[in-house]
Amino acid sequence: MKILVTGGLGFIGSHTVVQLQNSGYQVVIIDNLSNASLEVLEGIVSITGQPPIFEKLDLKSKVAVQTFFKTHQDIQGVIHFAASKAVGESVVNPLMYYENNVNTLVYVLQELTKLKVSNFIFSSSCTVYGQADSMPISETAPIKEAQSPYGNTKQIGEEIIKDTCQVYPNLQSIALRYFNPIGAHKSAKIGELPIGVPQNLIPYITQTAIGKRDQLSVFGNDYPTKDGTCVRDYIHVVDTAKAHVVALQRLLNNENQSNFEVFNIGTGQGSTVLEVIKTFEKVSNIKLNYNIVDRRPGDVVTAYADTSKANKILGWQAEYDLEDAILSAWNWQKTLKKD
Ligand code: UFG
Repeated sequence: MKILVTGGLGFIGSHTVVQLQNSGYQVVIIDNLSNASLEVLEGIVSITGQPPIFEKLDLKSKVAVQTFFKTHQDIQGVIHFAASKAVGESVVNPLMYYENNVNTLVYVLQELTKLKVSNFIFSSSCTVYGQADSMPISETAPIKEAQSPYGNTKQIGEEIIKDTCQVYPNLQSIALRYFNPIGAHKSAKIGELPIGVPQNLIPYITQTAIGKRDQLSVFGNDYPTKDGTCVRDYIHVVDTAKAHVVALQRLLNNENQSNFEVFNIGTGQGSTVLEVIKTFEKVSNIKLNYNIVDRRPGDVVTAYADTSKANKILGWQAEYDLEDAILSAWNWQKTLKKD
């Protein structure tokens, strides 16, 4: 069975390709290589022993999307990762984010609605909840005003899919709202490859520990949390990837109860920034150089998931804990060149 993975050479995309192949699916990857490299493809092949079909394609070209679906009529499901994901960059360049994340989604859906049946998994984010009023955050929590154009593209994306599903019952879709995916495949052949200075905590920690960055800045220690630093739900990327496979299977088996469903994908455990640092120091045996600086604008204080819906309905739950995830990220970092 042939599954299309857009953005399949990115961080979560590449791990999902591995899980799909391990589950017996034939995978077609499209990626424009704007934030990924062909070496990832080699990593995937060396893990699974199977080369996925790869096409370098930019979803911003509506014609290219049309041509792609015309020549791949046997695709049974689409997992749509291709998108830009840097919150800060989206504030500086909102139109790029609306073009990359919204236009491309529309072009893909336009082709899917022409098919007899189509199964569609969308990469959403806990960012849609903003600062939720209570923890853990369940799927029924209100969607708050987006904190950034990036966050807005995820909210708009879900709305676009929901509206489209209302009029195209042949479109079956699930949006997965990820909390904070981190880590790497246990083989250390694929992992997170941030371009330039990392914006996210884990790659910043591992790059500091390897000597590529001088010092980690902890953004604020005066939040109303147990140690004053922000709380997040860090989930192993392999667990995140597996959630896509079970969500896809739900659609392929027609087990979904409506043609637009959403699920939180997290561990249900919140960890502070200082706890993450301590865990890193424990698993790596390295003392991390960090200092406390001002809060980062736009950070929510606390976000962790109520995962009971995914546990019950998808039969999915995170298998790895924070130590496993951080150790895998560190093992991956050690395979990368320092500069
Ligand atoms: N942090 C630091 N120092 C750093 C980087 C991060 O202290 O150098 C802190 C942040 O302030 C935050 C925590 O580490 O408290 C996690 O920050 P990340 O940037 O790793 O993750 P975010 O929770 O801010 O962002 C993630 C995704 C976004 C998504 C968002 C939804 O990266 O794509 O979750 O909440 F929108």
